[in-house]
Amino acid sequence: MTSTDALPRPGATLRFPEHFRWGTATAAYQIEGAADEDGRTPSIWDTFSRTPGKVRNGDTGDIAADHYHRVSEDVALMRQLGVSDYRFSLAWPRVQPTGRGPALQKGLDFYRRLTDELRAAGIRPVATLYHWDLPQELEDAGGWPHRETAYRFAEYAGLAAEALGDRVATWTTLNEPWCAAFLGYGSGVHAPGRTSAVDSLRAAHHLNLAHGLAVQALRGALPGTAEISLTLNLHAVRAHTDSPEDLDAARRIDAVGNRIFLDPVFHGRLPEDLVRDTASVTDWSFVEDGDLRTAAAPVDSLGINYYSPTEVAAATPSPPSLSPSPWAGAERYVRFADVPGPRTAMDWPVDADGLYELLVRLRDDLPGVPLVVTENGAAYEDYADPSGQVKDPERVAYLQAHLAAVHRAVEDGADVRGYFLWSLMDNFEWAYGYSKRFGIVHVDFPTQRRTFKASARWYADVIARGGLTP
Ligand code: FCB
Repeated sequence: MTSTDALPRPGATLRFPEHFRWGTATAAYQIEGAADEDGRTPSIWDTFSRTPGKVRNGDTGDIAADHYHRVSEDVALMRQLGVSDYRFSLAWPRVQPTGRGPALQKGLDFYRRLTDELRAAGIRPVATLYHWDLPQELEDAGGWPHRETAYRFAEYAGLAAEALGDRVATWTTLNEPWCAAFLGYGSGVHAPGRTSAVDSLRAAHHLNLAHGLAVQALRGALPGTAEISLTLNLHAVRAHTDSPEDLDAARRIDAVGNRIFLDPVFHGRLPEDLVRDTASVTDWSFVEDGDLRTAAAPVDSLGINYYSPTEVAAATPSPPSLSPSPWAGAERYVRFADVPGPRTAMDWPVDADGLYELLVRLRDDLPGVPLVVTENGAAYEDYADPSGQVKDPERVAYLQAHLAAVHRAVEDGADVRGYFLWSLMDNFEWAYGYSKRFGIVHVDFPTQRRTFKASARWYADVIARGGLTP
């Protein structure tokens, strides 16, 4: 699809294709709250956030944005924004509390209510099956480093699809398996907080396997028209200089950050250089015959989450480090360089070119695979001023620049079908708790009052015009 498909619409000079999907995104643990209602059991994030020192200020998702009790209000906000799509995730411990056995109807009822309200508002539900809230029982049985978890996930995917397939047409298996594997089991900064290089690689493989098995389960339960996808947080990795050493550092990060998922899922193979790079960590004997073929079950699109680029240089190989790292096999050879320019409240660089670079790379590497930006956005120090307004010009500038980058990629032939802004509303930002605000809707957590930030009005205007006015 090229820009010639973009129909002229009044007002916007950078117009997006006619059927472009304009959405917002959230995730269950970050917004729902109601942590022990209606039969929901603890997930690894409940356990982790209740462990002292793991999450800033000791915050937990117990109440979060109380979305569980505010579905109508939140759908009404989206209707006002004019979004065509809403990306949310199902809480596995709500739907299948112990990670095995039959589905819990009360849990499913919540998602039936949500999706009914969305559809009544003319908004397409886009459901993600796994946004990091593994039932604690499955972690106790071994978690993602343990092969059985992949089969548990496929069973849960089938249950969810059978229950909701009549009203949800777009499904994503996993959100950011890189974070689940490498932050969860490598650096330990995310739940379950384990720190083992080999476990992080085992987890990555079992997430790929889980994805492929879930695609099969979804295809079996959903109508043929359903769209099935996977969301990756691909790293827009740049070498600090053109020296062979720096280029090799970038190759290493690309292998363990990107191709560890792209190659199994789209080509049914493991990257050879990754296997070499990680030889001192594992011989990969946990990969069984047929696993990679299973992982490569065809998908209908690829979701990409992008926030900022990664710049790397070669490091003088240090002795094996004792500090936990999310970069199994690469950590001793790579130094992370500073990307110049402004930063968000996460201290993440603002660099929209990275998004463009990723999209055109995927245009070239995965011809014929439609792309969707399933997350993009920024945290800033937002507050309601005395008149009750939340002015967030930096977020508007960030979003404007990143949407322009998406537009440029579309002009250059990347088949990008949609953009989901992270996030609809302020929420529980994982290890940062409530200290970081990504929403275009401000949430005053003590009162749960929602207020459109200036960026929400800006986004509504972009959607209404079908594009940007520079
Ligand atoms: C992504 C996560 C999402 C959110 C953003 C800021 O890695 O998928 O839940 O926390 O980062």
